[in-house]
Amino acid sequence: MLSLTALESFRRHLKVSDLNLQISEDWGSNNPQHRELIHQHRATLLEKTPDLNSSISHTHDLGIVALCSAPIGVDIEKTSRVHSDVVRRIASAEEMQQAPSPAALWCAKEASFKALRDFAQPSVVSAISIGNWTKIDSHTETFALLNFHNFSAPLAGHGLVFQLTNHTLGFFIFSA
Ligand SMILES: CC(C)(COP(=O)(O)OP(=O)(O)OC[C@H]1O[C@@H](n2cnc3c(N)ncnc32)[C@H](O)[C@@H]1OP(=O)(O)O)[C@@H](O)C(=O)NCCC(=O)NCCS
Repeated sequence: MLSLTALESFRRHLKVSDLNLQISEDWGSNNPQHRELIHQHRATLLEKTPDLNSSISHTHDLGIVALCSAPIGVDIEKTSRVHSDVVRRIASAEEMQQAPSPAALWCAKEASFKALRDFAQPSVVSAISIGNWTKIDSHTETFALLNFHNFSAPLAGHGLVFQLTNHTLGFFIFSA
């Protein structure tokens, strides 16, 4: 589903060489066992590499687990299900105007929120400000977490959103 070239591009733009991603249809919430299966898989990966950070996201038909040495957040959404009126409830007018799509902004906010777990994570994603979008190619945009200093995060980190055929994927990593 994700090519090695895509993974290498994520590593380059997110400035982390050990990013590992696993995606499976078995981990989508349509499968009653999805949560148990994805957590088992993450536990198996972490047995071999207990020092890695990890993050999980599910949509109806897919689940993803992402691991790397820096604090990480991941979000996956079915692109057609993310409507601008819903995103507007958690985003400013400026964020809506600057983002490449409502789904990209939603995934960027959720991934950044999850990556803040070990810091002063806010109670709501609307506290997070996303901007500085840069188009890398037809599938890939990078972004910044503009107010990282509000959450006791040690550094600005790096964000990336990638378009799959029917899904949008967001990553945020507190890498240097
Ligand atoms: C908690 C939250 C990040 C979950 O995101 P989601 O899109 O509903 O669900 P996803 O499938 O993408 O992610 C779920 C995974 O996130 C992880 N997660 C849950 N809470 C988390 C947190 N506070 N920080 C980091 N990761 C978290 C868990 O691993 C969870 O998987 P699990 O239930 O199998 O253990 C989301 O509900 C949220 O943003 N809450 C903040 C409140 C808010 O602003 N809500 C309005 C927008 S939804």
